[in-house]
Amino acid sequence: MRRRARWLRREREEEERVKDRDMFKIVDEVFDSITLSHLYRLYSRKVLRELKGSISSGKESKVYWGVAWDRSDVAVKIYLSFTSDFRKSIRKYIVGDPRFEDIPAGNIRRLIYEWARKEYRNLRRMRESGVRVPRPVAVEANIIVMEFLGEKGYRAPTLAEAVEELDRGEAEAIAAEVLRQAEAIVCRARLVHADLSEYNILVWRGEPWIIDVSQAVPHSHPNAEEFLERDVENLHRFLTGKMGFEFDFDAYLSRLKSCIHRGARG
Ligand SMILES: Nc1ncnc2c1ncn2[C@@H]1O[C@H](COP(=O)(O)OP(=O)(O)OP(=O)(O)O)[C@@H](O)[C@H]1O
Ligand SMILES: [Mg+2]
Repeated sequence: MRRRARWLRREREEEERVKDRDMFKIVDEVFDSITLSHLYRLYSRKVLRELKGSISSGKESKVYWGVAWDRSDVAVKIYLSFTSDFRKSIRKYIVGDPRFEDIPAGNIRRLIYEWARKEYRNLRRMRESGVRVPRPVAVEANIIVMEFLGEKGYRAPTLAEAVEELDRGEAEAIAAEVLRQAEAIVCRARLVHADLSEYNILVWRGEPWIIDVSQAVPHSHPNAEEFLERDVENLHRFLTGKMGFEFDFDAYLSRLKSCIHRGARG
């Protein structure tokens, strides 16, 4: 354990930063010993060089700023919740998914590991299909390492946050691009995001980036169309409301649905 703590501390000692103090808090108070061993494994795999400050602390996961082996910034998303509530909340996304069928009920840790793998694979599949998502770097048990969207440890704003700062022209360009990205997820990656909203889109370098793809399902999922409708409703509400961007809801939704029905690659 001491060795692990040492690598997390390494290199940064000369630089006195608030973020570093956060890191000690993380190491000492947040991670259970199994998560620590998986972090150490990422270090010995030469994936993760260092873990820095905390970016976000959600219900299910925590996201940290880290440094990859090549010294690029990465986001490190760690699933820490192993409660039955979490299992219940993700159940509807995994029913009927063959990747989860052989997990014995009650094996929550295995379920979380599969959930993290699913997020990693969804990221990869979207990325390979040209969807603008963070580049996936690695997955290890309950930990996903991906490209960091932001600068110097400061994450990019969500679309919900960024909208206040955009002028009319920028808002229009970004809104149109959000619709293109959502279409690419369905028609090219052949997935449905299933939690698409202004909170799971970051605005970075003038473009919208889709994040938080753990719950995305393939078209074969029994609720794929229902999830798609909800996603498009969320986008329609925010784009027409807050961003003043009008689009034909019915035409857009039916175009995406036809990709599901045809299994088209777009
Ligand atoms: N690749 C990334 N680069 C920068 N920041 C990120 C990245 N991925 C996630 N974040 C930050 O972490 C937050 C939470 O990430 P995400 O939406 O994937 O997790 P979540 O499980 O939905 O958490 P929450 O319950 O807080 O929504 C994002 O809103 C964003 O601020
Ligand atoms: Mg989220």
